[in-house]
Amino acid sequence: MKMRRTKISALLKSTSTGMDVHVKGWVRTKRGNKHVNFIALNDGSTINNIQVVADPNTIPENVLKLVTTGASLAVTGQLVESQGSGQAVEIHAKTIDVLGAADPEKYPLQPKKHSFEFLREIAHLRPRTNTFSAILRMRHAMSFAVHQFFNNKGFNYMHTPIITGSDAEGAGEMFRVTTLDAKNPPLKEDGSVDFSEDFFGKETNLTVSGQLEGELGALALGEIYTFGPTFRAENSNTTRHLAEFWMIEPEMAFYDLEDNMDLAEEFLKYLVQYALDHCADDLAFLEKRLLDEEKNKPANERSAMSLTDKLRFVVENKFERVSYTEAIDILRNSNPNKKKKFQYPIEGWGTDLQSEHERYLVEKHFQKPVILSDYPKEIKAFYMRMNDDNKTVAAMDILFPGIGEIVGGSQREERLDILSARMTEMGIPHEEMDWYLDTRRFGTVPHSGFGLGFERLMIFVTGMGNIRDVIPFPRTPGNAEF
Ligand code: 4AD
Ligand code: MG
Repeated sequence: MKMRRTKISALLKSTSTGMDVHVKGWVRTKRGNKHVNFIALNDGSTINNIQVVADPNTIPENVLKLVTTGASLAVTGQLVESQGSGQAVEIHAKTIDVLGAADPEKYPLQPKKHSFEFLREIAHLRPRTNTFSAILRMRHAMSFAVHQFFNNKGFNYMHTPIITGSDAEGAGEMFRVTTLDAKNPPLKEDGSVDFSEDFFGKETNLTVSGQLEGELGALALGEIYTFGPTFRAENSNTTRHLAEFWMIEPEMAFYDLEDNMDLAEEFLKYLVQYALDHCADDLAFLEKRLLDEEKNKPANERSAMSLTDKLRFVVENKFERVSYTEAIDILRNSNPNKKKKFQYPIEGWGTDLQSEHERYLVEKHFQKPVILSDYPKEIKAFYMRMNDDNKTVAAMDILFPGIGEIVGGSQREERLDILSARMTEMGIPHEEMDWYLDTRRFGTVPHSGFGLGFERLMIFVTGMGNIRDVIPFPRTPGNAEF
C-alpha cells in the first residue's frame, strides 16, 4: 500500500512516536561513519530539518552513496524519540529512495557559509538555503496578513492594470511596453515614432502605481486596496530600490489625512505583530543570522536591539507625527548637519529629504517610527491635496529604522478646479487624464490612500540588509536574470 507523505513541520510537532512515517525532501547535510549515517532532511515546510538515521545494514551502500547535500529523497521509517540533542524526534530509515541525485562535485550549494552576493548569482537555487527559505515563507505569511487585514475591515481587493497609458507619479521613470520593431519603427512626418501603429494604438508603459485606477474603485466601493507588481526605471543602485517591486495601495473614500495615517499605522503594526505570532521559527533563525552578521561589525555599528526586539518596538510605540516643516528645523539644527556630516546638507525649507535625513530623524532624533506630513508641493505628486497655505500638500510618509521611507501616501485633491490647475502647472496633459478628472466632475468626495513597498517591509521584518535578498528574483539596473 502506498504510504501518505507527512510534512516535516507536522512530524516535528508530533506528540506520539513508534509509528512508521513517510517523508520526502532535500538533503541538507549527511554525516556519520561506517556504522551509522545521520541525514538532515528538509522539505521546505519549516526551517527545521528532520534527522534521518540510516544504518548501512538496512540501507544499501549504493543508495547511501547518492545521499549527498542537495539530493532529493523519499524516506520510510519509524518515528522515534531522538537520543541526540537538538531534536525531539527522528526517523530510523527502513527504505530510502533517491528521487534525484545531486553530484557533490557540481552542486553549488554546499553546507558552508556562502556570501549573499554569490547566492544572488544562483538565485534559482538559493530558496534551498535556510535564510532564503525563511524569507520566502515569511513573504507568504506577510502577503496573507495583508489580505487578512483588509478583508477583516471590509476593503475590496482590486486588480489594477499592469500595462497603463498614464504616469501615476509623474516621475517619468517608466518601462515602455511595445511590439514595434525596435530597428525599424513606423515614423511620423516629423521623424518621431508613430505609436498609433503600436499594439494598443498609443504609447503604453508598465505601471509605477495602481493608485489612479484604485481611486476610481474607492469612489465607487468606498474602500479598496491593490497588491501587485510595480515597475520603476530609476537608475538607483541602492540596497532599498528595485526596478520591479510589489506594492500594497489602499484607497479610501471619506478619509482625511489623519484617518489615512491612523490606518497606515494600524496596518504596519498588524503586519509586524502577525510576523511575531506566526513566523516564530523563521524569525528565531533570522535573528540569530543577524546577530552573527553583526559580530563582524565594529561595536558602534551593531544594533542595540535584536530583530524581534525591533519588531516588538514598532508594535508597542505610537509613531511620532511631525510636519515636514518641523523636521527641517530639527535637521537644520542637528549635529551631523552642523558638522557637515550629511552628504546632502539641509539648506533650507523646500529641499527633498534623502534617506540619510529620514534615518537620522528615526534612528537618532525620535528613536521610533515617524510619520512626516505636509510636504512642499514642489517635491510631491500632482494629485496630492493642496493645504490652505498654498505651499504644502496633505502628504504623509512613514519612516522606519534602517530603511527610511516605507510608506508614501496622501489625501487626494478632490476639488476639480484646483486639481486641474495643478495639472496645468505641472504640464500633465488633461486629455489623457480625462477619465481621472471625471471622478472630480461627478460625485467627488474627500479621499485618501497610501502605498506600502512590500520589499521594504520584508527588509524590516527579516532583518536583511539588501532588498535584493527579500524577493525571489530581483530586477535591478543591469540585472534581470532568471
Ligand atoms: O512613495 P511612492 O512613490 O508612492 C506611490 O507610488 C503612491 N502612488 C502610493 C499611494 O499613495 N497609493 O511609493 C510607495 C512606496 C514607498 O514608500 C516605498 O516603500 C516603495 O513604495 N517604493 C519602492 N520599493 C522598492 N523599490 C523601489 N524602487 C521603490 N519605490 C517606491
Ligand atoms: Mg514616496
